[in-house]
Amino acid sequence: MRKKIVAGNWKMNTNYDSGLELAREINEKVAKANLKGTGIILGVPFILVADVVKNVDKDNIGVAAQNSAAWEKGAYTGEISADMVKSTGAGYVILGHSERRKYFKETESILKEKTELALASNLEVIFCCGEVLEERNDNKHFEIIKRQISDSLFHLSAGEFSNIIIAYEPVWAIGTGVTASSDQAQEMHSFIRKLIAEKFGDELAGNTTILYGGSCNPGNARELFSNPDVDGGLIGGASLKADDFIKIIESF
Ligand code: 13P
Repeated sequence: MRKKIVAGNWKMNTNYDSGLELAREINEKVAKANLKGTGIILGVPFILVADVVKNVDKDNIGVAAQNSAAWEKGAYTGEISADMVKSTGAGYVILGHSERRKYFKETESILKEKTELALASNLEVIFCCGEVLEERNDNKHFEIIKRQISDSLFHLSAGEFSNIIIAYEPVWAIGTGVTASSDQAQEMHSFIRKLIAEKFGDELAGNTTILYGGSCNPGNARELFSNPDVDGGLIGGASLKADDFIKIIESF
């Protein structure tokens, strides 16, 4: 059966000291929380990855980088490779976030390269997809999600794909306070699961964790997570407050 997961994406927030403090605070609260088997992942800035790994209980909390390079190694000043991320003890990398697609022009083919390298370094990939408002208003959202997922991920073997977690994050819901309705989330998650089933079969589709992201908070998490195809969340703003993040984790 697929795993329920609540992952935080801290984006470019905190600094070394405040980030480590937040990770420790979350770790302490998670130890007392009613997890009901929910997996927790902290997606932290690169400078914190190695030390957050050392400061959280790895039985409860996994650590993710928020990006990794499209090249294996070499003369790419400022880049961080998948192998470097893995060497810190982190188990995950977030790839394809809409902010990276928008500000860093990451395309489906770049994300294909990044995903391959991350999987080759034995990282699990939290692969983000999502349409902008105009695409939804034009009724193109299914087509867009299909392209984002199939062009970057459907060349993988079934074994490789089993290390992918999908995060559906409608861009119009990110950081806006406007969340997708429960029905909109379920509709898209079930569409994504169907796509995966058509490509890799029902068993793998049934085992794939599909997260929702976009203005998810302690007030709406329970309803969103109650949908059969919503397996948890990728949380931005609310993951920066330990109490809110714990409440979301306890929403299953
Ligand atoms: P918010 O929860 O702040 O809307 O961000 C969602 C997100 O982008 C997570 O990756």
